[in-house]
Amino acid sequence: MSQNPGHQTVVVLGTQWGDEGKGKIVDLLAAQADIVVRYQGGHNAGHTLIVNGEKLVLHLVPSGILQPNARNLIGNGVVISPAALKKELDELEGRGIETRGRLGIAPNCAAIMPYHEALDRVREAARGSKAIGTTGRGIGPAYEDKIARRGLCLGDLLDGHRLQEKLEPVMDYHNFVLTRYFQDKALDISRVRDEALQLGAYLESYLTDVTDELHLARADGRKILFEGAQGTLLDIDHGTYPFVTSSNTTVGGACTGSGIAPCDIDYVLGITKAYTTRVGSGPFPTELHDDIGQHIGERGKEFGATTGRSRRCGWLDAIALARAVKLNGVTGLCVTKLDVLDQLAEVKICTGYSMDGQPIEGYPSDRDKWSDIQPRYETLPGWQQDTRGIKSREELPDNAQVYLARMEELIGAPIHILSTGPERDEGTVLVNPFG
Ligand code: IMP
Repeated sequence: MSQNPGHQTVVVLGTQWGDEGKGKIVDLLAAQADIVVRYQGGHNAGHTLIVNGEKLVLHLVPSGILQPNARNLIGNGVVISPAALKKELDELEGRGIETRGRLGIAPNCAAIMPYHEALDRVREAARGSKAIGTTGRGIGPAYEDKIARRGLCLGDLLDGHRLQEKLEPVMDYHNFVLTRYFQDKALDISRVRDEALQLGAYLESYLTDVTDELHLARADGRKILFEGAQGTLLDIDHGTYPFVTSSNTTVGGACTGSGIAPCDIDYVLGITKAYTTRVGSGPFPTELHDDIGQHIGERGKEFGATTGRSRRCGWLDAIALARAVKLNGVTGLCVTKLDVLDQLAEVKICTGYSMDGQPIEGYPSDRDKWSDIQPRYETLPGWQQDTRGIKSREELPDNAQVYLARMEELIGAPIHILSTGPERDEGTVLVNPFG
């Protein structure tokens, strides 16, 4: 493993449409971190970790919770369903993983309330064939209320009077929309309030000034790991809008969603699968509708960790990845699931797009063009050998080495971590982001 000067603050994020295998890598790096931070998204995320052969899915709690010495923080940019968080905390405690005193949550996190989930559900149903394919967790409606300056945060759930004052106008408004626009049921305000107060009381001892903790930790020279959720192409500003999530999944989200300054980020690790997947609707230029797509889906066990939906599968898209590298200032790449391609006779990489039969330059900056582009491919020979658990890049079959080298060249970033299997120890760290 080569050494670097030693970075204190590392951001790990997805460079595709999410599900790149961030959970495993964050878990690996969390072993070296003093603090692990979530900064955007909510329980739409699902980080699957395999620990000692047992599967654990985290939705809101940072992956550092599995490291006995790590402090875990949830920053203000995360939208929190108090009920979903309690369920996850109960499950962790049930497995003997202590969370009190080890998890801190910003009181300004937007609260996902029952009416947000109801709105997500009825809106998706009303969209019919144009549905976004959301996770149905109320993520979009909760972020909307935050941006509309009428949202509730976790701090509002601690005091009955404060809660009533804020809840009444917002529920009046949403009940009107639910009943009059969507012809759905109204939600009962006293029930929502009582449940929220109970959950607020349960969560109170977790609340902390996350921003302050982070700045103190940075000044103390402690190592901080930021754990992104979803992926770059699902970013509300830079993704394939409107088929995106409602937060900034790109690196700026780590700053706005936690209070760390941009100049305090030392290293950005961009995670990419060796191919591409997407859940939900929306454009996906390199999607495969054939046996190869099915083979990748089966071999890669491509089912959503949160919703159990099958993921759409396709070839690696170097144009979209090159854009992700620029948007996030990616220092190094982590390539996951290379072993899923092991049996293929040939592998393809998208090296350009065409529209109306004519090649186009780079990445379409007009988001509506995404549905009209076709991929242009470069074909490389497959390696048809087992790469699972390989411990160095040199040990890989020649054709796998050629594939990775071509990826680096086209994407414009070096590979620093390679993962070739779901277990914690199946993979190799070529350059350690923390140094
Ligand atoms: P929402 O975040 O539930 O509003 O869903 C918006 C879009 O983002 C849908 O296409 C979801 O499938 C997708 N999405 C949300 N969270 C994840 C994730 O963790 N992995 C992959 N896709 C996600």
